[in-house]
Amino acid sequence: MKYLIVLVAGILLVAVGCKKNDTIAPPPTQPVNPADTSLQKMLPFKVGAAVNVNLMQNNTRYNNLVKAEFNSITAENAMKFGTLHPGQFTYNWTQADYLVSFAQANNKRVHGHTLIWHQSIPDWVTNFAGDSTAWENLMKTHIQTVVTHYKGKVTSWDVVNEALNDDGTMRNSIWRQKLGDDYIARCFQYAHQADPTALLFYNDYGHEYSATKRTAINNLLVSLKNRNIPIHGTGMQFHTRYNQTDANIAAAINTAAATGLLVHVSELDIAMNPDNVQGLVFTATLAEQQAAKYKFVVRTFKNIPQAQQFGITTWNVTDGDSWIPTQYNRPDWPLPFDRNYARKPAYYGMLEGAK
Ligand code: G3I
Repeated sequence: MKYLIVLVAGILLVAVGCKKNDTIAPPPTQPVNPADTSLQKMLPFKVGAAVNVNLMQNNTRYNNLVKAEFNSITAENAMKFGTLHPGQFTYNWTQADYLVSFAQANNKRVHGHTLIWHQSIPDWVTNFAGDSTAWENLMKTHIQTVVTHYKGKVTSWDVVNEALNDDGTMRNSIWRQKLGDDYIARCFQYAHQADPTALLFYNDYGHEYSATKRTAINNLLVSLKNRNIPIHGTGMQFHTRYNQTDANIAAAINTAAATGLLVHVSELDIAMNPDNVQGLVFTATLAEQQAAKYKFVVRTFKNIPQAQQFGITTWNVTDGDSWIPTQYNRPDWPLPFDRNYARKPAYYGMLEGAK
């Protein structure tokens, strides 16, 4: 009996000890993003992100994630007209130079975004009083100063961004008002003169949701190409949504490839709350739907001719730094990483799409 009591007490002590250990000792630590896998290792084409310079400089986790996952970077805002050229005779290279140095130190491609756009125009341009020759000179000087500054360091440029309306007509931007429809062609010529080795892209949105717009974009680009204007690629922004149809996504990517130009999915994000529902919760079901859509984009892109695969770039890095929640004042989760820098099902969807 005495032995039985000792035995039971012993078993109880061991059991309590185990329980105690289970709760006190942390489980074996798994890194959030294991280092043996990364988008840049697993995807058969360049994969990039639009990056925020402030976060790159002040947030080590963000910086490390960019370093580990991507082999191409685009400046989210640092190379726009308003940032780089705030006064007629003032250029501010600080932020963009930082990104280019980061890319050089870490063996990343830099895609320049963007030389001529109807947004991010500084006041001195909006208020510029000059005749068409003076405007032409303003536009040419901006393009050539920027492209020359980064000659040999920035592989490619979005030379003109968003020059068309959704109905396929020319957007009546300040550039078109002052310089006429053919300003687009001349932007490419000026950029090419400044760096003949840079790859030059026209960048726009809407390819996946509007057949009218994608036809107009593709027609414009083919006509530039046929005139021997130095244009090398088409950038499809792809700010899309989880319920966009696969048929539309495929039509966008495949008709872009049919132009014969390089194809860049240049600003990919997949919104999960396009109807602006304030209390929406990002459920596992939504996460899987998003993963399937990322997978489809990657798989479709991988199936265009390899020589035209310039790459896929996501617009921002994680759900925590996406432009969408701020812009639309709603919760959303558009990217392959969550706000804690962990890989989402969307990330694994991208890997699946590349298989
Ligand atoms: O830096 C100023 C800050 O000093 C000021 O206090 C604050 C107050 O509003 O504004 C800050 O500037 C903002 C800037 O982002 C940096 O955060 C601008 O207001 C804001 O307009 C700007 O938005 C950017 C937008 O382009 C316009 O340039 C977004 O971050 C950027 O993600 C977005 O990117 C565009 C692509 O270039 C083209 N395709 C669509 C895409 C999404 O809109």
